[in-house]
Amino acid sequence: MRYLTFALAKGRLAKKTLKLFSSMGIDCSEALDPDTRKLIFVNEEHKLKFFLAKASDVPTYVEYGAADCGVVGKDTIMEEGRDLYEVMDLGFGKCRMCVCGPESARELLSRNEIIRVASKYPNIAKSYFTEKKNQTVEIIKLNGSVELAPIVDLSEVIVDIVETGSTLRENGLTVLEEICPLSARVCVNRVSLKMQHDRIVKLLDEMKKILDSEEGGKS
Ligand code: PRP
Repeated sequence: MRYLTFALAKGRLAKKTLKLFSSMGIDCSEALDPDTRKLIFVNEEHKLKFFLAKASDVPTYVEYGAADCGVVGKDTIMEEGRDLYEVMDLGFGKCRMCVCGPESARELLSRNEIIRVASKYPNIAKSYFTEKKNQTVEIIKLNGSVELAPIVDLSEVIVDIVETGSTLRENGLTVLEEICPLSARVCVNRVSLKMQHDRIVKLLDEMKKILDSEEGGKS
């Protein structure tokens, strides 16, 4: 049997996913060691490989088949627009993709004016404004701390992830429009889903069982 390979978005999502695998009886202790700098881990017993990649690269590994499966946020899947199957919502890493800005920018969104939109997610921002709202905008790509943009007058609004809302609050900004809810998703390479179908479905079923029992435990 060949290895089934998972690309995990390094950071919180990878940690949660590895803990989920641990609950399924798959030993992930080496990968969960906070001091390790290793990027790839092998579980011989279950013939699984896990590697940790930058979130925005996970869909690339999956599209090309370097990973059979990936775990990454819906935001990254939408932004990267890769050719893959999104097969499961893991229900963690929940947050929202929103248009944010100072309250004073709200009226600019209802008028059909050209506004500047700063974002780490230029594709999501562009398709939201042009396809959904029919508003022409100038997209300014940034790589982080996007909340700065309206404060220093780089843009009128931003498109960004809102989790607790505290970054917005502490910078005098607010959610003006919600684009969509986000969470961690499992995606699968098109060929792998055909060739390794039963194995992948079995793993997904086991993941779902654990997630459902955790959900039950919460309520
Ligand atoms: C994300 C996001 C917001 C913040 C939202 O940034 O881009 O800035 O978290 O979280 P909150 O609603 O709980 O405050 P991240 O921490 O990834 O840093 P970055 O902006 O530098 O990319």
